[in-house]
Amino acid sequence: MSELWVERHRPRSVSEMKGQKAVVDRLKAYSKSRTFPHLMFAGPPGTGKTTAALALTRDVFGEGFRSNLLEMNASDERKLESIRTKVKQFARTAPMPGTTFKVIFLDEADALTPDAQGALRRIMEQFSETCRFILSCNYSSKIVEAIQSRCAVFRFRPLDTEKVLEKVVEVASSEGVELEQEAAQAIAKVSLGDLRKAITSLQVAASLDSHVTRELVYETTATAPPEELHGFFLACKEDGFQPARRRMRGILDRFGLAGTDLVNQLHRELGGVTFLDEMQKLAATEAMAECDFRMVEGGGEALQLDAMAARICGLLGN
Ligand SMILES: Nc1ncnc2c1ncn2[C@@H]1O[C@H](COP(=O)(O)OP(=O)(O)OP(=O)(O)O)[C@@H](O)[C@H]1O
Ligand SMILES: [Mg+2]
Repeated sequence: MSELWVERHRPRSVSEMKGQKAVVDRLKAYSKSRTFPHLMFAGPPGTGKTTAALALTRDVFGEGFRSNLLEMNASDERKLESIRTKVKQFARTAPMPGTTFKVIFLDEADALTPDAQGALRRIMEQFSETCRFILSCNYSSKIVEAIQSRCAVFRFRPLDTEKVLEKVVEVASSEGVELEQEAAQAIAKVSLGDLRKAITSLQVAASLDSHVTRELVYETTATAPPEELHGFFLACKEDGFQPARRRMRGILDRFGLAGTDLVNQLHRELGGVTFLDEMQKLAATEAMAECDFRMVEGGGEALQLDAMAARICGLLGN
């Protein structure tokens, strides 16, 4: 387990990326023309933003792309002065022979304060002759308009289950992991469109046993399998508070969940529960939302969860 599989299996070219079709098609056009404007990549974690930035620069500049690329993380460079100094130094030397510009990749740009973003805007202009910026962020709404208007904006989406499956199966076979079909599906389900999470879950499970089963996936990802969560709702409906509470405690212990994890996982599963009607689901959702909020605000976990179970029993019980 010396190397992280997410790094080893990071696509090297834009054309090897999974999903993100709208993004990938436009980036391929940039690779072909071997030039691009300032770019902004926005989207949730583990969906390919850093990957796309590295792959695009490699596609445009070839294997020696690193000498043409400055990588910075905005959350390490709180002071904009240090960004300015680094950019200045980097921009001073000529780009690689045969190329006309260098690339500055600024990760987590949404960590910069609005003031720092204002200054970044001037830096982008000052060096735009010789440098292209690629900014990456989780929330484009945290990037000031002035910067957004200087960039071509790309939105990354959580990956479809089938794309996650494809990648996980590829990684497993190249790492010699025996991955059961149901286990692959479980990984795709728990990763919620985050490929980093999916590949990491696979590696963690495989480090315990090279034969990866569905049970192993659920045990190593701090996720309760759907049938356990359905079992809790059924107990609320059929058996009453004490049995439902015992089930809830069992799930928490067995899968090592925090209270908020449990509530969120229950919420995600609720839609698929067949033995409750729409009104019951709406009411249960409210009880869960209230419990989540109280725990986040500092309410004691055991008490809040019991109160939620009690309320759901009251709503569903006969
Ligand atoms: N679209 C994709 N196609 C193939 N692999 C991907 C894709 N997205 C993510 N991965 C895999 O997941 C890992 C993490 O992806 P990446 O670093 O690009 O995420 P990110 O979008 O930059 O996330 P963050 O917002 O947390 O920085 C990569 O090393 C790669 O193995
Ligand atoms: Mg990233």
